[in-house]
Amino acid sequence: MQLKDTAFRNSQHLLTEEWLGVSYSKHGKTCLLPGLGFRNDIIIPGASLRWYTSQPDHVLNSYETFLELNQAGYTTGDVNVIRNPWQGDLVRTQMLSLIEPIVADLDDELKVSIDEKFGMDEKDWREIDLYEMVRIVIARGSSRFTVGIPLCRDESYLRRTIDYIDNTILGGLLIGILPRPIRPLFGAFFRILTTLHLRSIRNSLIPLFHSHLSLLQTSPGPEEPCDHLQMMLRYAAANFPSEINLTNFTARISVSNTGSLYQASIAITNALFNILDSDAEYSTIDALREEAATTLVDHNDIWTKATAAQMIKMDSVCRETLRLHAFANRSVFKKVVANGLVTEDGITLPKGAMLSLLAQPAQTDPDVFEAPLKFDPFRFSLAREAIAVAASQNSQSPIFSTGLDSNKGLSNGPPTHPLGKLPLDSTSAINLPFAHGQHACPGRFIVDFEMKIVLAYLLINYDIEVVKREKPWREWATEASMLVKGGK
Ligand code: HEM
Repeated sequence: MQLKDTAFRNSQHLLTEEWLGVSYSKHGKTCLLPGLGFRNDIIIPGASLRWYTSQPDHVLNSYETFLELNQAGYTTGDVNVIRNPWQGDLVRTQMLSLIEPIVADLDDELKVSIDEKFGMDEKDWREIDLYEMVRIVIARGSSRFTVGIPLCRDESYLRRTIDYIDNTILGGLLIGILPRPIRPLFGAFFRILTTLHLRSIRNSLIPLFHSHLSLLQTSPGPEEPCDHLQMMLRYAAANFPSEINLTNFTARISVSNTGSLYQASIAITNALFNILDSDAEYSTIDALREEAATTLVDHNDIWTKATAAQMIKMDSVCRETLRLHAFANRSVFKKVVANGLVTEDGITLPKGAMLSLLAQPAQTDPDVFEAPLKFDPFRFSLAREAIAVAASQNSQSPIFSTGLDSNKGLSNGPPTHPLGKLPLDSTSAINLPFAHGQHACPGRFIVDFEMKIVLAYLLINYDIEVVKREKPWREWATEASMLVKGGK
């Protein structure tokens, strides 16, 4: 089935029910939809997710799509960083084994930076631009585990890092909608900005890079910093020694920040807007505040990964936020890099084609979610609690054992997910903000507690109200849901 429309379109409109692509996708059919600008994308149906994500990288490749989506040739400084992203492999293979020290450092850094940026005045209200404030707080928290103290507190380093990320996101959207022949003209402008940002970030990294580099002469000891930079140096020394130079490392750290810092900031800001918007109906603030305070008291005021996971209401708010307000409308992007691949429904995929799944329609499918477009803060925690009650009564409730695969929705109950598919860090065909499969975001296990401890700290220690809302919190820019600046 083919839909052809090369005109630029607001993507929310593009992906509404009227579009046959959604219904084709729901019925297990592969189809072609207009994508960003002059591109056409092949949409893989959710039912083929397992087949799709089990294809090896030499058949379907994620990194080749990042080159296109981010217009990486103009916005990253070095396309090899995307083609061979070993800095990301480290998150998957090593950083997750260090999760508890990361939780402790992140908790420490976030508290200090939130107090600094949101203020400590107990009497007077302070007006802030929420998104800007969250971005700088998260930039600092994330940088604590990337480059450690003191660089994570260096405002000019953090500012340049944010500028580099904005340049990548904007460049990806604006260059991507142009016809290929004129991209280099426009892209040259972004390339200049990228070079300037990277030069400034590189200058900030010089002392740290050289002091970390000198540690490579000896075996790692207890004094070795366990930040991302040091891990990258050790990894490169063992696997890619020719890549150990400051320019390459600056690009690798900056690309890594783009993935982690940008998405985490918008997710936390969106969650805060959703908490505020839903408070009148659900008393969201009081419920989350009480849950966070009780959890902390029960664990001597110390966050661990397991403690944060106990806040199932908070988990539900974060999950519901990403269900409705994830950054991208589509997910699990891959490019066909081999000849002759045939889909489960018999379509031969041309080499070079861009593939993805319709994430937003799947996450707002009325057959799966009751009132699918409504932000219901405790949608997932209520389902988890109901499962726990059913389990304690030793009766396997047919409602909750009905898995997604049956494609049956409930008219009046929680979503028909198996228990393991309810938490924030799960992934499935109807939960794709972190994609799915071998290349699903490994950072989600960090985001899982990062979101929760930031929100818990803000809600326990601050009263928050909306002062200014002239526009919606967010708007669609091509295929991305962007936060509108100025929400106070
Ligand atoms: C709310 C925050 C975040 C969201 C929504 C998010 C989402 C995503 C998505 C959609 C992908 C693409 C997967 C694919 O289709 O190939 C991805 C990849 C990745 N993310 Fe995240 N991410 C977030 C935060 C983070 C953080 C904090 C880190 C690091 C600490 C991180 C590290 C990575 C890495 C290394 C990859 C590449 C995985 C691979 O290619 O194998 N992410 N992320």
